[in-house]
Amino acid sequence: MAVFSYVDGDYRAEQVRIRDIAAACGTPFYCYSRAGIEAAYRRYEDAFRGFDVTICYAVKANSNQSVIKLLAALGAGADVVSGGELRRALAAGVPPERIVFSGVAKTEDEIELALEHNIRQFNVESAPELETISRVATRLGRTASIAFRINPDIDAGTHEKISTGKSENKFGIPWQSARKAYARAAELPGVRVAGVDMHIGSQILKLTPYERAFERVATLVETLRADGHDIDTVDLGGGLGVDYDRNTPTAPSPEEYAVLVGQLLEQLGCRCIIEPGRSLVANAGVLVGSVIYVKEGDQSTFLIIDAAMNDFLRPSMYSAHHGIAPVKLNGRADRTYDIVGPVCETGDTFARQRTLPEQVPGDLVVIEGAGAYGSVMASTYNTRLLVPEILVDGDDYRVIRQRPDYDSLIGLDLDWAEGVRAC
Ligand code: LLP
Repeated sequence: MAVFSYVDGDYRAEQVRIRDIAAACGTPFYCYSRAGIEAAYRRYEDAFRGFDVTICYAVKANSNQSVIKLLAALGAGADVVSGGELRRALAAGVPPERIVFSGVAKTEDEIELALEHNIRQFNVESAPELETISRVATRLGRTASIAFRINPDIDAGTHEKISTGKSENKFGIPWQSARKAYARAAELPGVRVAGVDMHIGSQILKLTPYERAFERVATLVETLRADGHDIDTVDLGGGLGVDYDRNTPTAPSPEEYAVLVGQLLEQLGCRCIIEPGRSLVANAGVLVGSVIYVKEGDQSTFLIIDAAMNDFLRPSMYSAHHGIAPVKLNGRADRTYDIVGPVCETGDTFARQRTLPEQVPGDLVVIEGAGAYGSVMASTYNTRLLVPEILVDGDDYRVIRQRPDYDSLIGLDLDWAEGVRAC
C-alpha cells in the first residue's frame, strides 16, 4: 500500500495533500501516516503468527506519544533505553509486562523506576550493571527478570556507526564470558535469569549476519541450560533494514526474517522478543521543507530548503540516502541540485546531484523515509526550533507535537545574576 502518493500532481499522505498541511502549519514539519505504521506492525504480527513472540517496538526510532500509543493499541510492547523512554512508554499505555529495558548503562534511578513498574525484563550489558540491578532490587524487595545482552562478534554489514555486535563495540558482554556472567547472576539475590539477548546493529540488509548470530545464541542457550539456567526467552533485538531507495529494493522482508527466527525458536523451544524500530516507522514518515533560495554555485546548483541537519541528521551522520521529491509535479523541466539546509556546516547536505523538476522559492519538497531516527535525533543547533510532527489518518490530520516558540527555547538559559546552584 502506498501511503504517500501523487494524486493530480499533488503529493499526499494517505488522502491529505501535503501542501494543505504546509499552508496550515508552516514548514518544516514531519508527517507520519497512521496507516503506514499500522500496516508495518501488522506485517510483523502476521509474519510471526504461531510463535510465542512479543513485538517490543524500539521507541528510540520515533518516540512521539501518539506513535507509541498507536502501536500500543495494536498490542505492541516497547523496548526502551532510558528512564525517559520508559516514562514515555508507560505514559502511552504500554503494559509494563510488555516493556524490556535495554541500553548500555542503566543508572540506579532508572533501574528503580523500572522495578517499581515491574517491567518484563532488563537486558543487562555488563557485570557491574548486574550487580547494581541486584542491589537495587534487593533494597526494594523486588526480583528483576534479566537477560544478558551477548555480543556475538558478528559483523552486521551495516554502517560502522550503527554496527553493535562486533567484539570491538561497547555493547553487551563477550559471548565467551557469558557462562561466567550467568553463573554470577544465579548467585545474586533480587535477579532471576530469564533469557539471552542480542542486537547486532541497525539497517541490516542481509539475513546472513542474523543467521550467524542466531547460531551463536542457540549454542549458548543450550550450554546455559546444561549449566542449570532456566532460559525460556531469547530477545533477538531489532535491526531489520528498510528500503530507503524504492527503486532498488534490497531489504529482507519481515516474512523472510520470521522464517529464520522460527527455526531458532523451534530448535530451542522457547519464547521470543523482537525489538523492531526502523522497520515499523521509517517509511511511514516524511520531512517536509520549503525552498528558501536557489543558488547557482560554481560547480552545482544549490536548492536551499528550510529543513536542515539539525532537523534530520541521517544524511550528514551516516551518509544516508533518502528519496527527495517535489510536493507538486509542476511540469517544469528537470534540473540537478545539491539539496542543502541553511545550517553553517558543509555537512548540512541532504543529497548531492539529485534531479527534480525545476524548483523555485516557496516550492515544497519532501525527504522520504524520515519516520525513524528523524525527529528523535533533532536538535536546536543554530538556535533552530524543533520541528513539529503531524499524524495523518485517512483524510484527516492532527498536530501531534507543536512547534515550540523562541521565548521558551531561549528562556531555558539563565543569567548569572539569577543565582541558582543546583539543577
Ligand atoms: N534494540 C536495541 C537494543 C537497539 O539498540 C536498537 C537500535 C533497536 C532495537 C532498534 O533497531 P532498528 O530496528 O530500528 O534498526 N540512528 C541510527 C540508528 C540507531 C539504532 C540504534 N539502536 C540511524 O538513523 O540509522
